[in-house]
Amino acid sequence: MLTSEDKIKSLNRIGIALTSTTKLAELFEMIVSECRSFTNADAGSLYTLEDGKLIFRVAQTESLEKRLGYKPPFKAFPIPLNKKSVAGYVALTGEIIHVDDCYELDPAKGPAVDRSFDQKMGYRSKSMLTVPMSDDKGTVIGVIQLINSMDEKGEIIPFPDDIVDLMLSIASQAAVALTNAKYLAEIKNLFAAFVRFSATAVDERSPHTAGHTRRVAGLSMRIAKAINEEQEGKFADIQFSDQELEELWFAAWLHDIGKIAVKEAVLEKNTRISKDRLCWIITRMQTIMDGLEIEALKNKNLDEEILDNEEINSKKEQIYSDMQFLDKLNKSGFLPDEDEARLKDIASRVYTDYEGEVKSLIDDFEFRNLVVKRGNLTDEEWKEMRSHVVKTRTIVQNIPFTAELANVSNIAARHHEMLNGTGYPDGLTQEHLPLQARLLAVADIFDALTASDRPYKKAIPLEKSIAILRDDVSRGRLDERIVNLLVDKKLYEGHKEDQAEYPWKIEVF
Ligand SMILES: [Fe+2]
Ligand SMILES: [Fe+2]
Repeated sequence: MLTSEDKIKSLNRIGIALTSTTKLAELFEMIVSECRSFTNADAGSLYTLEDGKLIFRVAQTESLEKRLGYKPPFKAFPIPLNKKSVAGYVALTGEIIHVDDCYELDPAKGPAVDRSFDQKMGYRSKSMLTVPMSDDKGTVIGVIQLINSMDEKGEIIPFPDDIVDLMLSIASQAAVALTNAKYLAEIKNLFAAFVRFSATAVDERSPHTAGHTRRVAGLSMRIAKAINEEQEGKFADIQFSDQELEELWFAAWLHDIGKIAVKEAVLEKNTRISKDRLCWIITRMQTIMDGLEIEALKNKNLDEEILDNEEINSKKEQIYSDMQFLDKLNKSGFLPDEDEARLKDIASRVYTDYEGEVKSLIDDFEFRNLVVKRGNLTDEEWKEMRSHVVKTRTIVQNIPFTAELANVSNIAARHHEMLNGTGYPDGLTQEHLPLQARLLAVADIFDALTASDRPYKKAIPLEKSIAILRDDVSRGRLDERIVNLLVDKKLYEGHKEDQAEYPWKIEVF
């Protein structure tokens, strides 16, 4: 028999224990084991009740586990919410069921126990105490059922009467702890969903980035898990904790969030100049051709066949050829020296506009964009594109992550840094780059290479993409161990379909 002092001490200890975890699954188990230990019960179970659903969450039977030598696997499942079962009855009425032998409960008169578990496991449920878990508003949110209170000799005895009120009080404490854990789980789920959808929305501003963040997040998590699975080799001593994995998940989803501040025209750019702008140049060239014919008309007799004029025809052919050249150059990803020379030659020409003003055939803006050596972004546009990572840092630093997720911005904002200091925005070298940032960099580059939706380059085949990664390794830009793991374990296989959902999403009852 517990003394009053023992009871107070136990209650205090249970109260503290119940606030020590906010993980729902852990909390469910802890509530049952604490209640069992308080009442010296051999078995205990817990049910939750929400939205009209009664879910059987936890089953513990100490003597059975000892006999079997292991804890039988148990998976939560719903049970019908009605007054036929003891748990259902307590959940619906909020009443306590306290009996010396639960087999004496008569199903014709009220709730009764389901004996199938006992029959299957060779167990005998006898004394029983089933109490509701009521939250601070008095709403029943669950049920705790305790079976077979034991005396010092290991004999089954009835649950003492004086323990019932205390059990109710513990059940209420447990209900509050559960409600708090549930709120926390809901907030975490909500925030993770918000991050995921915000990043998706930023990606989908442009078809050229759509899906990129999702794929990078999926591939980053694949690489991190593969590192954790490595038993030997370069990653044998590295084990990401759950929190480090969670940091990586947030960092990967947020890594390009700064693109929200990059102009759509830059994100979307897939030619050197726009189609409209190219048409303007073509129209000006047409004007030059018209001018040639008008000039010829002025100088020759009207009855002479102008179109047969050899000199004019040759000039017109040249202009047609230049038009085609500009059209091709506009779509091309690389500008060879001879093409650059031809472009400069075309740009040096003039035309007379409708007001009689002589102007350059290609204006400064058009020339700057057409003369880009690689891809189709000018230096200023590259600067703007690269600024996204600084904007990512600013955005992520302003998210008040909890202490255990303090490194999210440091990982997210480093995904364009290279081990040899040639990356941006800070040109950091390897000793300043966390492993999560390095693997995010590999995942980011791999997806940029293999994606078919980039404005400044087409999808590169897998083999060539791997060769490029290896080249980056040889130049000291990427972490060789990560690239090797990605390639050796073929972690990229099927990664494009990864939804990269929040792995810590908690099923809230
Ligand atoms: Fe980026
Ligand atoms: Fe990216």
